[in-house]
Amino acid sequence: MSAPEIRTIGVVGLGAMGAGIAQLSIEAGYETVGREVTDELGEKARDRIAHFLQRKVDKERMTADERFAVLERLALQTELAALSDCDLVIEAIVEDLEAKHALFAELEGIVRPDAILATNTSALSVTEIASAVSTPERVVGMHFFNPAPLMPLVEIVRAELSSDDAVDAAYTLGERLGKKPIRCHDTPGFVVNRILIPLLNDCIRALDEARISPEELDTAMTAGAGWPMGPCTLVDLVGIDVHVHASEALYEKLREPRIAPPPRIVAMRNAGLLGRKSGRGFYSYD
Ligand code: 3HC
Repeated sequence: MSAPEIRTIGVVGLGAMGAGIAQLSIEAGYETVGREVTDELGEKARDRIAHFLQRKVDKERMTADERFAVLERLALQTELAALSDCDLVIEAIVEDLEAKHALFAELEGIVRPDAILATNTSALSVTEIASAVSTPERVVGMHFFNPAPLMPLVEIVRAELSSDDAVDAAYTLGERLGKKPIRCHDTPGFVVNRILIPLLNDCIRALDEARISPEELDTAMTAGAGWPMGPCTLVDLVGIDVHVHASEALYEKLREPRIAPPPRIVAMRNAGLLGRKSGRGFYSYD
């Protein structure tokens, strides 16, 4: 296949990551179709994006007219069929292989044969996701980091059957979104999560071993290791459920004990302490 020129981007799933990716897309000038399962969830994502763009206006990094024009580029839809004209679709739905398979199989029947299908999966295999479609050469990973509008990296993941054209098109798009893309292969956790997930789990184990509080651990890693954000603040931001799920998925593939989620954080997930999104994790939020 030869990759199309990217003019219109689809984003499926407008949670924290999908909304961030949609924000990047409209700010970079792309017509963007954002798909959520209900109008309410779509509006919530638009409000979130509108809020962060307003902060840019407040700080004089954008004019009110520019903000208006940027928001105009986002079309919210609940029907997948609305993605038919997209040149590239980025999936950012729940981290569940069956759900992703169902979505990719349906998308394949909707978009043009040359459209690229990208997944923002953190811990699933892009090759396995691509196995749901009859044209796996058009499937790549585009793994953004939370918060997507602020974190410069995007991992461009080559699955077993990805075409060079699809990988190159995703890389070029990463650059046009203002990111620093890196190319990598479809290995468990790709590059950053392969390193960061065991490291964060070690940090959580140190809480109990060193008998310190989350505040003290965060101070240790910001003031002693130069991290921009302490590990407890970071896991609360990413979502305790997301972190536990990613740890379990990587542990299943790599079987390294450090990757397994510590019992403390599994218990937090089971108790509904999910971090910022639920109002309470290691810290409490208003
Ligand atoms: N979306 C859009 N804009 C946002 C935002 C978001 N989620 N969060 C903040 N902003 C905007 C806000 O308008 C904010 O200004 P305001 O507070 O005046 O409104 C502006 O960005 C700047 O925000 P901050 O002052 O908080 O920015 P900092 O300079 O403190 O940097 C940071 C924030 C870049 C997040 C920094 O703390 C950092 O690098 N933290 C580490 C994050 C990290 O490691 N992420 C990776 C997680 S792992 C992952 O994502 C993998 C996945 O697979 C699970």
